Amino acid sequence: MKVIEFKDICKVYGTKSNQTKVLENINFSIEENELVVILGASGAGKSTILNILGGLDKPTSGSFFFKDSDITKLNEKELTKYRAKNIGFIFQFYNLIQNLTIYENIDIVNSISNTKYDTNKVIEQTMLTNLKNRFPKDLSGGEQQRTSIARALIKEPLLILSDEPTGALDTKTGVEILKILKGLTKKGHIVVIVTHNLLIKEIADKIIYVKNGKVENIVINEHIKEVEEVLW
Ligand SMILES: Nc1ncnc2c1ncn2[C@@H]1O[C@H](COP(=O)(O)OP(=O)(O)OP(=O)(O)O)[C@@H](O)[C@H]1O
Ligand SMILES: [Mg+2]
Repeated sequence: MKVIEFKDICKVYGTKSNQTKVLENINFSIEENELVVILGASGAGKSTILNILGGLDKPTSGSFFFKDSDITKLNEKELTKYRAKNIGFIFQFYNLIQNLTIYENIDIVNSISNTKYDTNKVIEQTMLTNLKNRFPKDLSGGEQQRTSIARALIKEPLLILSDEPTGALDTKTGVEILKILKGLTKKGHIVVIVTHNLLIKEIADKIIYVKNGKVENIVINEHIKEVEEVLW
């Protein structure tokens, strides 16, 4: 089932006389359970696409359908609701709060939004049980990244967005993170990964190539590999 559709999405910065077209007529769709990788050179527009998907940025024109509602038509309040309900962001640079423990860094979602999500369940899922009482500075990069994933997952959002999830990690830790992300698609989530790592496309269902603000190509992967099958 189609969940996401970008229709002629454009993003332009600047005034009429001095315009920068960052995205030009971007079209693609994403189905349930898909792992999608967005590839392209630096400055191609990848993060801009991700930010529009996550409701952090608005396109200049075009439509973005999420389960039949056009997200570009939402006002700020509705957009906040869309983000809170549907989106889990995994940031490259963790965004952890240094004077809170790992447990608190994840559970803070409950404090902020006055909810009662199961913090311990998500801690287990991301293999952080033994580390939950430590502070971020006493964790490795991969463990901090897992904390950031746990925080994105606590609400069980349909759409998980990740900009270079393995960028700052060694190979072994990166593979661990990818296993978690790939596993999520099998539980019904959609995962979109922006990356420079060409190997990640091997595990994707769909690869969107972006060049100079345009979709250059969309490839449906006919030979999807498991994370363990890729020679990292
Ligand atoms: N506020 C802005 N005003 C003008 N141009 C901008 C603005 N924000 C971003 N851009 C430009 O938009 C283009 C696309 O940026 P984007 O961050 O989407 O690229 P990217 O593909 O994610 O690159 P990278 O791989 O380096 O992260 C870049 O050329 C950037 O300079
Ligand atoms: Mg980027």
